[in-house]
Amino acid sequence: MCGIIGFIGDRPCSEILLGGLQRLEYRGYDSAGVAVWDGAQIAIVRAEGKLSNLVRALVQNPIDGDPGIGHTRWATHGRPSEQNAHPHKAGPVVVVHNGIIENHLALRAELEAQGRLFASETDTEIISHLIHQEIERGATLAEAVRRALKRVVGSWAIAVLSETEPDRIVAARMASPLVVGLGEGENFVASDIPAVLHHTRRFMFLEDGDVAELTKTDVRLTNLDGAHVERPIRNIDWSPTMAEKGGYKHFMLKEIHEQPRAVTDTLRGRISLEQGRVILDGLSDEAEYWKSISRVVIVACGTSWHAALVGKFWIEATTRLPVEVDLASEYRYRNPVIDASSLVVAISQSGETADTLAAAADAKRHGARILAICNVVESSLPRLAHHTVYTHAGPEIGVASTKAFVTQLAVLYLLSIYGGRGTGRLSEAEAKRKLAELVKLPTAIGQALRQRNRIRRMAERFHKVADFLFIGRWLNYPIALEGALKMKEISYIHAEGYPAGEMKHGPIALIDENMPVVAIATRNHVYDKILSNIQEAKARRCTVIALVTEGDEEAANHAEIAIPVPPVPEDLEPLVTVVPLQLLAYYVADYKGTDIDQPRNLAKSVTVE
Ligand code: F6R
Repeated sequence: MCGIIGFIGDRPCSEILLGGLQRLEYRGYDSAGVAVWDGAQIAIVRAEGKLSNLVRALVQNPIDGDPGIGHTRWATHGRPSEQNAHPHKAGPVVVVHNGIIENHLALRAELEAQGRLFASETDTEIISHLIHQEIERGATLAEAVRRALKRVVGSWAIAVLSETEPDRIVAARMASPLVVGLGEGENFVASDIPAVLHHTRRFMFLEDGDVAELTKTDVRLTNLDGAHVERPIRNIDWSPTMAEKGGYKHFMLKEIHEQPRAVTDTLRGRISLEQGRVILDGLSDEAEYWKSISRVVIVACGTSWHAALVGKFWIEATTRLPVEVDLASEYRYRNPVIDASSLVVAISQSGETADTLAAAADAKRHGARILAICNVVESSLPRLAHHTVYTHAGPEIGVASTKAFVTQLAVLYLLSIYGGRGTGRLSEAEAKRKLAELVKLPTAIGQALRQRNRIRRMAERFHKVADFLFIGRWLNYPIALEGALKMKEISYIHAEGYPAGEMKHGPIALIDENMPVVAIATRNHVYDKILSNIQEAKARRCTVIALVTEGDEEAANHAEIAIPVPPVPEDLEPLVTVVPLQLLAYYVADYKGTDIDQPRNLAKSVTVE
């Protein structure tokens, strides 16, 4: 995700803005920029790439003054480039923005029809034009911001300057974090506390719909209707490292907690509940897209491969097309059956995994259509693919993938509905029902996270074991694999993930009183089967930890330890059942004291074979 900083006071602020942006660097970004009022106009300097490029650009083209705003961009709409970097200017108005504007295409068409010229491919530029339009109609800057925001649909944290009122910054928030830092005769706005923590420890946390008007000596808050609102002032005593992690001990734990937001952002603007349709970035009308596709192949590695395994169930069910899933490292060295009627879906958080790139390139050479599911805009995979659907998880810093995984699942579920409608095998009514359930998932993930303290307490008991077995069936079989992978990679405890029905074909020989078995035993059509598997495991004297649907006493009574997960339609279970397993791996590793964010021998991007 992008970073925002703004300053108003009595000091030239380029250094303050750059310092703030440097403190947000750890979050990842692809371009950066600053804008300051220099006494006559708002001057802007931007650069693609690292902040050192921005510093160089500022040396060549020095600008300074006060107030000012700055931004690090993580591309969502429009590739990473100087032209797409923020701030964006329209007339006297300059804007930096985090978030996604869902109705940007319609608004852009309307503004262009009025003769307004756009300089970038971003959704953000819409906001600067809308504010400019309201100023032309006579509104003050704050009022213009409120009116403009009433026209946009989506998420935003923005900071705005205008040459018409250079004595203030107006900032606003909707579903994207924004804080106001209070100083003496100076004030700050930032997307994240670390950006300004060395200047002040007094913060106001804006809430959705808040608009803040900052002058040197005052901060006035209203809602979008202009009515006064108040937010408490909090003293933040976090250390700078704690602040980077949002107060969490590790990035992984922070990212696990970001999952409801990440899924919301990934679904944003892609669903029409009224029509039972999925609108995927840049992909044609569904019937057109699917008309020549006779089979689907999904390639990926590691956690992304687990998402692929879940996606297979969904896409097969809605399209009735054969779906194969391959580990990219295997696919590239066999001689797969592939042709122009194959849709090859390549999934990668980083977009740089060497095996996934090679598999996709090979399939492309054989004439297949390549669809990427990726989290990093303009990484190598989207550049190779014919189309990309981005997961809007934001930068994932912990090496163990968590929020990227649930957003990959969200995209695959969308793809299954897009495919179902495109092949004509999923009715409009059924698509509407599925989508209506899907949009409730962020809340269910939030409920699953509430088990964190219970899981933390039980993790203490298990951090010294030598092995874990994770079992699940049907859609929860890949989740058992994912639970085991999380456990081994961050706690260094040996863990096996297995389809529960396969236990008696071998792994049951491993089970004794020293091997805890984690069973995913939620209420679905294989419920009775997994309860039998739990009985088989218990007969070998192991401790069974079961994930059970909230309120299900029967399954809870089968296990020594039961972790409830919220009830969701059975096909959506993987998005909630994975959460306790991430937390279990995290807390077991934390008790062991391993290097959770950078486990030994692992890298975030596996760019070599
Ligand atoms: C596990 C993990 C890895 C990655 C794998 C693929 O937590 O992070 O297994 O999933 O290396 O990476 P991407 O998705 O970037 O291709």
